[in-house]
Amino acid sequence: MMKILIVGANGQLGRECKRQFQEKYELFLYDSDSLNITNIDAVSCAIAKVKPDVVINAAAYTNVEKAEEDIDNAFKVNATGAENLALICKKYDSKFIHISTDYVFDGTKDRPYEEFDTHNPLSVYGRSKSCGEKLIEQVGGKYFILRTSWLYGDGNNFVRTMLRLSKEKSEIAVVGDQYGTPTYTKDLCSVIEKLMYTEFYGIYHASNEGSCSWCEFAKEIMRVASRKTTIKSLTTAEYPVKAKRPMYSVMENRLLKLRGINRMRPWQDALEDYLESSCE
Ligand SMILES: NC(=O)c1ccc[n+]([C@@H]2O[C@H](COP(=O)([O-])OP(=O)(O)OC[C@H]3O[C@@H](n4cnc5c(N)ncnc54)[C@H](OP(=O)(O)O)[C@@H]3O)[C@@H](O)[C@H]2O)c1
Repeated sequence: MMKILIVGANGQLGRECKRQFQEKYELFLYDSDSLNITNIDAVSCAIAKVKPDVVINAAAYTNVEKAEEDIDNAFKVNATGAENLALICKKYDSKFIHISTDYVFDGTKDRPYEEFDTHNPLSVYGRSKSCGEKLIEQVGGKYFILRTSWLYGDGNNFVRTMLRLSKEKSEIAVVGDQYGTPTYTKDLCSVIEKLMYTEFYGIYHASNEGSCSWCEFAKEIMRVASRKTTIKSLTTAEYPVKAKRPMYSVMENRLLKLRGINRMRPWQDALEDYLESSCE
């Protein structure tokens, strides 16, 4: 039976991988307490003990706002933490699956980003993830880097925030001029499963199909969940935050399509599925 080691197992993606994989594979799950990826000795011990076929890095510093002032920690987890895993995976010949983000791009393109477009991150989080990608590439080995976007699943995310706010408010103001693609962890996990059997290493875009603004996303959440709350559109300038986000970070799953393994549904279908199965 294939052995899969998952770090960051208690995050949104980590939980989904556990749910989808636990019946089929031998899983070795590590949360941030049992394995801190910034500690190369701990990473080395865990991987040496298990000698996994596949390592999935679901661990990351994901608080985009906090990262603006906690730069060292964001880079420790997202850049050198990812590098630690890549190095030890290479040593033990494990396949390494790493997750990156649409925030490596600056959002100035007028059509969807493809895998080999140039990085120009606008935030500390984006810079730290971009650096993580580059360090993994330098290490080499059997790595897959999957860039995804606007992820939701079992954990804190935009969908749950909107559902919670809709119980408290009759109107919610949401940014309407930043475009991207919401992605369900369930679909990302299916793509991970497809890719891990291949030897087509490298960088992939892996978002649900289609695109929307945060405001359109919120409206669709209200519609599908039959909530009466009105969604009002704000401009980015009207919603001041510390971290600058790309205005347009839609990604084309070009390589998944070329390899015939794009399992990504339109984002609206994925959202319906999530809301049907969600405990909200
Ligand atoms: N969420 C999004 O919208 C989004 C969008 C694009 C890409 N991504 C990428 O997708 C991946 C999965 O995201 P997610 O939403 O599932 O993240 P998440 O729910 O925030 O989970 C991240 C997990 O990483 C753990 N972690 C943090 N620092 C760690 C460390 N030093 N060692 C080990 N574990 C550590 C966290 O544990 P603690 O909670 O205990 O710290 C948490 O359980 C990440 O690579 C992220 O950058 C996410």
